[in-house]
Amino acid sequence: MRTETLIAAVISVCICGIVSAQSPDVIIPAPAEFRFTGGTCNFTGEPQVKILHNTKDIRPEGYRMTISRKGVKVEAADEAGAFYAMQSLDQMTAGGSISELACCEINDYPRFPYRGLHFDVSRHFRSIDFLKKQIDAMAHFKMNKMHIHLTDAAGWRMQIDAFPRLTGFAAWRPEKKWKDWWFGDRLYSEAGTPGAYGGFYTKDELMDLVEYAAARHIDIIPEIEMPGHSEEVMAAYPELSCSGESYSGSDFCIGKDRTVEFLEKVLDEVMEVFPYEYIHIGGDEASKKNWKECPDCQHRIAEEGLKDVDELQSWLIKRIERYVISKGRKIIGWDEILEGGVSPTATVMSWRGTEGGIRAMGYGNDIIMTPGKYCYLDHAQDAPFREPESIGGYLPLELAYSYEPVEESMPADGLHHLKGVQANLWSEYITEDSHAEYMYWPRAAAIAETGWSPQGSKDYAGFRERMVRETELLKARGYNPFDISREYGERKASAKLVEHKAIGASVTYHKPYSNAYTGEGDGTLTDGKAGGWAYGDGRWLGFISDIDLTVDLGSTMPVHYIGATFMQVIGPEVFMPERVEIYTSEDGVEFGLAGICHNDVPVTAEELLFREFGTVCNTNARYIRYKAFRNPVCRGWLFTDEIVVN
Ligand code: ACM
Ligand code: ZN
Repeated sequence: MRTETLIAAVISVCICGIVSAQSPDVIIPAPAEFRFTGGTCNFTGEPQVKILHNTKDIRPEGYRMTISRKGVKVEAADEAGAFYAMQSLDQMTAGGSISELACCEINDYPRFPYRGLHFDVSRHFRSIDFLKKQIDAMAHFKMNKMHIHLTDAAGWRMQIDAFPRLTGFAAWRPEKKWKDWWFGDRLYSEAGTPGAYGGFYTKDELMDLVEYAAARHIDIIPEIEMPGHSEEVMAAYPELSCSGESYSGSDFCIGKDRTVEFLEKVLDEVMEVFPYEYIHIGGDEASKKNWKECPDCQHRIAEEGLKDVDELQSWLIKRIERYVISKGRKIIGWDEILEGGVSPTATVMSWRGTEGGIRAMGYGNDIIMTPGKYCYLDHAQDAPFREPESIGGYLPLELAYSYEPVEESMPADGLHHLKGVQANLWSEYITEDSHAEYMYWPRAAAIAETGWSPQGSKDYAGFRERMVRETELLKARGYNPFDISREYGERKASAKLVEHKAIGASVTYHKPYSNAYTGEGDGTLTDGKAGGWAYGDGRWLGFISDIDLTVDLGSTMPVHYIGATFMQVIGPEVFMPERVEIYTSEDGVEFGLAGICHNDVPVTAEELLFREFGTVCNTNARYIRYKAFRNPVCRGWLFTDEIVVN
């Protein structure tokens, strides 16, 4: 045997020796550092655990785990660190079923102090048992903040003694399916009405949940929405709305003193139940419409010298923040709290992309990053035709995993304000607990790794392999995770360039596309790139109007076919055009009709659908006029990805 071959054989025996014993490279989130020390440990007993308070070489929440022939030794700077060492050991031993471990030393600690997961219990009430089960999974992946969205239009979920109508009425609705309720009359039901759907948590139940979470090193952040997303409060206490009438919109009247009194009393009871320093006060998506006409709101604007309704919202948030601070707590708000000015002590949760977070960091605010593109788990995680109905969008595990919270435009001296990351699961379309669980896992574990593992250390192929293993453990523990090993993946049409005659052709938009969905700009429809499952993937162009555009092929040429694909996803009101008209011209002045296509896809179809609206023609043309008309009843959005000319 040649020397090199012998060396290779010895190395391979060593590697096999290591591989047969479980090594730390299966852990999620991947540990900050580990090194093999040689040999294996037959681990059957309990690890020896020491908490070395005031140790300098182990960071907060971190631990050092030494696996040697003698056994497993854990040193940590705090209880959380010791707890996280146990989670790593639980993963390595697959819940105790593997006893042979590779000898090694693991030095592990989190990248960020905030690793959050969000629960929307308003759209669908979830049991305390469900929440506890998810807390166990969060702890398993070293997540440490549970954000509970306790209030929203679809139902108020927390017992508030001062305002019993919140749970006696605003916590219940006639329809179970959110879509039936939202696209129906949006009524609430008296508690106890036969068939009333909903529920709420008593304070005792919530205190028990807080204790359960604390034992697993998880803080609970309650969210009480204001001033928008509050239809249920306006229905129960109409005197808090601008008109004083029930069912009169989503926003609190900021002009009325009783609104501030209501919110302070509610927060008193919230702070009595939830001990964590931070309270989330919502702040997102207020319509602000009623404030423009309301004499009370206008009076508040004049009296406080405010410029507009944005400053009116900001006045309320700052007022509430002062109150919360007076009780020794702090606020978190969605990034809209920046509009009209924000105080530096508020933490901003950046969800509409990352711009809000970056701006807030520049003002000196702490930020938590939860941009929709990577962190909104309500989007489908696989090909929508294989998935339960969702609100739309496409967020596969790889995309969730690819999120890097530090951006070049963030000032280096502001990075300490970046507290961490959070995954959110809005639940409009997620009626059942098992479905919610399926949407959380494994994508939440991908965000957990982003929040924990060192910057620059991520590797999707490795994570995916670890996740396939962890999925088995989750299943064995009674969870219902998505099985990443069965993933179908992105829309096949988007995988390769579409060859056609209009590639690179200039397009004149007689009606502009929306600045919310600009794709890659004017050239999006002639770049040869078909869109994927999601209209927000940068390959689709969105119109909140009819479409009317002209493509200039640059010179006259034979044209045999002209068409474009549209998508329909009715949750976010994306519909097929009712009809498309296609014209051609040689001179750009005189256009002849090439064809008209009518839609045959029902606007009630619940699944994500794609349909090509095109016409065969046999003509010479340089210019193509493509007009798509919205359904006059549904209106909504039109999305198309390419004008194909052959
Ligand atoms: C949000 O998604 N409206 C925060
Ligand atoms: Zn008002």
